[in-house]
Amino acid sequence: MKILKFSSVASILLLLLNLSLSWGAPDPVYETFLQCFTKQTNSTDDKLSSIVYNQESKSFSSVLRAYIRNARFNSSSTPKPTVIITPLEESHVQAAVICAKQVNFQLKIRSGGHDYEGLSYKSENPFFILDMFNIRNVDIDMEEETAWVGAGATLGEVYYKISEKSNVHGFPAGVCPTVGVGGHFSGAGYGTMLRKFGLSTDNVVDAKIVDVQGRILDRKGMGEDLFWAIRGGGGASFGVVLSYKLKLVSVPQTVTVFKVERLVEENATEIAYKWQFVAPATDNNLFMRMLLQPTTKNKKTTAKITVIALYLGLKDNLMSLLDKEFPELGLKKEGCMEMRWVDSVLWWSSFDLNTTKPDALLDRKVDWADFVKRKSDYVQQPIPKFSLNLIWKTMTELGKVGLVFNPYGGRMSEIPATETPFPHRDGNLFKVQYSITWEKPDPELEKNYTSQVSDLYSFMTPFVSKNPRGAYLNYRDLDIGMNHNGKDSYEEGKVYGAKYFNGNFDRLVKVKTMVDPENFFRTEQSIPVLPK
Ligand SMILES: Cc1cc2nc3c(=O)[nH]c(=O)nc-3n(C[C@H](O)[C@H](O)[C@H](O)COP(=O)(O)OP(=O)(O)OC[C@H]3O[C@@H](n4cnc5c(N)ncnc54)[C@H](O)[C@@H]3O)c2cc1C
Ligand SMILES: *[C@@H]1O[C@H](CO)[C@@H](O)[C@H](O)[C@H]1NC(C)=O
Ligand SMILES: *[C@@H]1O[C@H](CO)[C@@H](O)[C@H](O)[C@H]1NC(C)=O
Ligand SMILES: *[C@@H]1O[C@H](CO)[C@@H](O)[C@H](O)[C@H]1NC(C)=O
Ligand SMILES: *[C@@H]1O[C@H](CO)[C@@H](O)[C@H](O)[C@H]1NC(C)=O
Ligand SMILES: *[C@@H]1O[C@H](CO)[C@@H](O)[C@H](O)[C@H]1NC(C)=O
Repeated sequence: MKILKFSSVASILLLLLNLSLSWGAPDPVYETFLQCFTKQTNSTDDKLSSIVYNQESKSFSSVLRAYIRNARFNSSSTPKPTVIITPLEESHVQAAVICAKQVNFQLKIRSGGHDYEGLSYKSENPFFILDMFNIRNVDIDMEEETAWVGAGATLGEVYYKISEKSNVHGFPAGVCPTVGVGGHFSGAGYGTMLRKFGLSTDNVVDAKIVDVQGRILDRKGMGEDLFWAIRGGGGASFGVVLSYKLKLVSVPQTVTVFKVERLVEENATEIAYKWQFVAPATDNNLFMRMLLQPTTKNKKTTAKITVIALYLGLKDNLMSLLDKEFPELGLKKEGCMEMRWVDSVLWWSSFDLNTTKPDALLDRKVDWADFVKRKSDYVQQPIPKFSLNLIWKTMTELGKVGLVFNPYGGRMSEIPATETPFPHRDGNLFKVQYSITWEKPDPELEKNYTSQVSDLYSFMTPFVSKNPRGAYLNYRDLDIGMNHNGKDSYEEGKVYGAKYFNGNFDRLVKVKTMVDPENFFRTEQSIPVLPK
């Protein structure tokens, strides 16, 4: 009787224990982390609830979803972090690093969340997210023509804040205003002023980082090697970038934009062929992106090109430039629009200028995303006309995948390939982005679409760079290699590392080995340490 009683009490206890474990009993990892974090930051309990979230927190899922920018990784099967930390100040970042290290958890760092493979918010291993969206001051010094920008600021915020101070200053960075400073600048960053001013990182003059020991270091403190590495080598391998200091650039009071569309039946092939000679060689003030897409016209499948351009100057000068260099494009004066630089930023991100003011750039569009797959390539020799025709054919057969050609040349060819970790400089005519976007979750469709992208990528092999076949770090693509951060970490890293960084990979490995020898800052495509 007694024994029976005891065992039933025990089983009730066990049951309760089980229930409480599955119903959100505090996870020991979370508890240990929280204790450490509280101690490091001197935080009070009520303050902590808006900085550290575990899976049981009411707002866990809304905080996680806020900066998911590829809806493919917004599913119940996407691995979730054990803890999300959303620092309000720099000391919270220091504490997060120190305490994540103490419990030996992988720390994924997220600024704007635009990583195409979701590396800033998912992992195959148990992990935390350090979410930087609150660290987003933009402090502009017009005397010095510089700005300190927090890692969690968006490009839209940077552009808007600059435009509040001046309409003859700008910054050369990405087209999409919701992209985050932390990932974009640490991974190089480019936009419509690439040919005039180079990459975003070419215009970064200082930075603040939290290193693996939890110290805050500026350029002087971290030294030139680490400062070099975080201007294109990807922040996530080296530490947590708190902020970058940018040198602003001069833009004219009035700039000009245009967009021209041509079907294959309207000489698209001739225009696309000629584009390869003109776009990378023309006036540095002119950036002409070209999209190549399958389309239908009168129920017939065909392909089209769209040339979208920014000219840092007036319409009349642009017209005479293109009349001379690119008459095949058939640009009409009525097709050109003059505007302020900040309005060209809105125009490029497809806002309706009649109804939109620059403050639209401040919209963070939280918890919103399309389903996407992207890849990248570099073209160093013009693609012949007959091959362009084969591209149209392949594209229309595949159905949906498109290409974006971004011209290089200009300033990009003047900067040595070793100046920053980004190696794709002189000798590259343009970068190719493979692009497919859809709106609904559907595993069958996803399989079809991602194979369209890899089929077109295979088809393009003869036309793009080889040994290694180059890729752009900020167009993250796990197909080109992955790291499990085990004993083969260096060998695995060399595979994608050579593609992203070419000859700069070795120096990145040296810096990594120097600043983070235990490989605490690691991702599926981080820089490995030298084998011991
Ligand atoms: C819609 C869209 C448009 C884009 N347009 C352009 C474009 O015009 N030009 C261009 O160059 N690229 C473009 N990109 C790519 C973009 O530059 C990269 O995805 C970039 O890395 C995004 O930065 P993020 O902070 O938003 O991303 P996140 O996903 O937050 O971070 C990307 C990577 O950087 C790491 N990281 C983030 N913050 C920090 C930090 N503070 N310290 C250390 N490491 C950090 C992350 O861990 C991750 O590995 C675009 C992407 C999207 C989705
Ligand atoms: C926490 O408090 C201690 C003791 O008062 C102090 O030395 C330390 O600087 C504080 N840390 C932070 C991050 O405020
Ligand atoms: C195509 O090119 C031909 C010859 O160069 C030209 O006569 C014709 O007008 C062009 N067609 C279009 C639609 O631009
Ligand atoms: C914006 O305004 C211009 C000039 O008034 C007009 O031609 C154009 O159609 C308008 N665009 C939209 C999208 O309403
Ligand atoms: C994630 O999915 C939910 C529905 O399950 C949706 O409401 C939300 O907008 C999605 N967010 C993103 C970033 O895709
Ligand atoms: C994708 O689906 C379409 C239509 O169902 C089909 O014709 C095509 O072959 C598929 N493509 C791939 C790469 O699977």
